[in-house]
Amino acid sequence: MSDRPSKKLKMDSEAEKVAEAAEEHLKQHPHPVPTKQPYVAHDDGEFKDWIKHQTTAEQAQKLEDGPNNAFTGNKFSQKYFDILKVRRDLPVFAQRQQFLDIFQNTQIMVFVGETGSGKTTQIPQFVLYDDMPHLAGTQVACTQPRRVAAMSVAKRVADELDVELGEEVGYSIRFENKTSPKTILKYMTDGMLLREAMDDHNLSRYSCIILDEAHERTLATDILMGLLKQVSIRRPDLKIIIMSATLDAEKFQSYFNDAPLLAVPGRTHPVEIYYTPEYQRDYLDAAIRTVLQIHATEPEGDVLLFLTGEEEIEDACRKISLEGDELVREQNCGPIKVYPLYGSLPPNQQQRIFEPAPEGANGKPGRKVIVSTNIAETSLTIDGIVYVVDPGFSKQKVYNPRIRVESLLVSPISKASAQQRAGRAGRTRPGKCFRLYTEEAFKKELIEQSYPEILRSNLASTVLELKKLGIDDLVHFDFMDPPAPETMMRALEELNYLQCLSDEGDLTALGRTASQFPLDPMLACVLIGSPAFQCSEEILTIVALLSVPNVFVRPASARKRADEAKMAFAHSDGDHLTLLNVFEAFNSEEAMQHGLHQWCRDNFLSYRSLTSARSVRAQLRRIMEKHDLDLVSPGYDDPDYWTLVRKALAAGFFMQVAKKKSGNKGYLTVKDNQDVLIHPSTVLAAENEWVIYNEFVLTSTNYIRTVTNVKPDWLVELAPKYYNLDHFGDGDVKLSLKRIIERVETMNKQKEKKDKKKKSKSS
Ligand code: CDP
Ligand code: MG
Repeated sequence: MSDRPSKKLKMDSEAEKVAEAAEEHLKQHPHPVPTKQPYVAHDDGEFKDWIKHQTTAEQAQKLEDGPNNAFTGNKFSQKYFDILKVRRDLPVFAQRQQFLDIFQNTQIMVFVGETGSGKTTQIPQFVLYDDMPHLAGTQVACTQPRRVAAMSVAKRVADELDVELGEEVGYSIRFENKTSPKTILKYMTDGMLLREAMDDHNLSRYSCIILDEAHERTLATDILMGLLKQVSIRRPDLKIIIMSATLDAEKFQSYFNDAPLLAVPGRTHPVEIYYTPEYQRDYLDAAIRTVLQIHATEPEGDVLLFLTGEEEIEDACRKISLEGDELVREQNCGPIKVYPLYGSLPPNQQQRIFEPAPEGANGKPGRKVIVSTNIAETSLTIDGIVYVVDPGFSKQKVYNPRIRVESLLVSPISKASAQQRAGRAGRTRPGKCFRLYTEEAFKKELIEQSYPEILRSNLASTVLELKKLGIDDLVHFDFMDPPAPETMMRALEELNYLQCLSDEGDLTALGRTASQFPLDPMLACVLIGSPAFQCSEEILTIVALLSVPNVFVRPASARKRADEAKMAFAHSDGDHLTLLNVFEAFNSEEAMQHGLHQWCRDNFLSYRSLTSARSVRAQLRRIMEKHDLDLVSPGYDDPDYWTLVRKALAAGFFMQVAKKKSGNKGYLTVKDNQDVLIHPSTVLAAENEWVIYNEFVLTSTNYIRTVTNVKPDWLVELAPKYYNLDHFGDGDVKLSLKRIIERVETMNKQKEKKDKKKKSKSS
């Protein structure tokens, strides 16, 4: 990490080398061109020359009018024309020519418009009709901060273009790739595009990259912006569009060297804002009451309620459904349908939010209620919303570099978010927004804009990615908002302890391999290190299970039975080992014969999480194979089976360790000295002296979750650099470690002596 000129020079020439290598790679592996010749290219004399010239909006529209699909040559279906009619009413259509004028004459542009104006679904199609990527063998990418949005929008646009999802239009999210060689438009999470950039620094397969929802300022989008700024110099042919919902456009414009801006005037209706007269102690309860009151008293129109996470949302959905049915019976209200929406919801259930509201009855309107996380703020547009209920909270990532804890915390939203939420009520006609906080609080307590994620995150993954992207000089990387130096130092330090970066801050062979895994560097290191403990098959399972939503289901109505079911899989040494037992059982003959769905229900396990863990595991396994990492297992018969697994875990989790406090029931995190308790969900039988943990849960009491018992001797042996006592504050932990280190040293010496004796005897 230095800004010496020699480093900089090295970087430039490296970048050149990389660019050359990428070109060479492209020559040898050209992007496959679809075999079916598109309609425009050969069939019709009138259209023949268009692709050589730049297309006008009128010409593009003519192509869209059919009768044949310009990208597949197939005849358009009736459904296509039905959707086309609706699409043509979207605000962006009025500005197609203006868009094309700017797009064709500039490399980077900024495009802003109200949510629902058609940015995400239409702009990539405008680009397709101008670019004709299928003829050049290139692709258009459109990034989304959220997996849900990438999947849902890809599905919609596939319908709009009258193609199968995964063919011409596809999506790519972590652990799931639904694209084919035919794909010309790819919706993807910003994180996935970043991963692609690690292997192809010039993103050479793309002719146009659209960074959507840029106002969200996710970590990956921020890095991509800095990266694309560099790539745009190396690749003058690459077009870049920065799309954003709010009118924070100047910041993007000036960052991209005064890029031109196109703003689509919104077609929004006035929204009346209501505040509560006083502070609401229980916002969940207040929210449910408000929704029910809207249903009982307000005229027709659907309701959107913003809550913070899956559990809260499912809980609210149940309560609103139950009490809504009561309203139907007792007050003759119309029927009410409640739908949840959050990131981990399966796609088919997500699509249900687009179903129409139920028919009214007794002269009272039927109503659809959607209870959603932030996803519905800008990422997904749901038509028909007239009432918004906004408790003023969302789950936000926070990071404290001093104690190295990153957490998702329910925190107050910003004014910008509150306005965006209110705006959802005015999409189709005038609406109302009920804020469950006082006007005073809105004015005085909410910050203007949310802080970008890069200022609130652990940057270990990011630093590793940047290094892999060939960016050595992190200090001079052109961040839109540079992260705090302390956070950056922490990340470098962490990667150095993991041996992903050398003491000079250069990427090591291990770091290079670790960056190939779509995992947190620590988990990647656990995997890469596992063959040395003969248990990579086991660690693969554990890492896969740690990468999917919780496999244990604990319904409010059957907590006790669920806990009992879990204990059947428990391993007394910890939760990681218990996960291994669950997965073994899930793959057993017995479960199969039982029927997996039923087996999961009977055992209070999530079928969805387990199947997705299976697929994640298979993908990680392929990456292991690709990098010649041994796939081995000690086998159950090995008396050391569980010890080997625990050792392999300790080898990577050595920075996430807690030690039992003497004479006290709590634990203290090692080195960072935080008071914690083991989360009640643990299966760990007795209280163990030293444990590794997967997660630090920051609440009024701090918990560590998913814990496994380890031997401290392993820690000091496996991570001597981290357990260097000079870096520990005085106290109980240091004293214990000192004793352990002395013990280990004595034991090693004795062993050496013995070995020597043996040697001399045998010789
Ligand atoms: O990106 P932006 O918020 O500007 O709008 P969009 O996501 O492109 O959505 C434009 C319109 O497409 C919405 O108002 C919906 O009418 C429609 N749409 C839909 O019907 N189904 C989807 N899954 C997505 C969008
Ligand atoms: Mg959008």
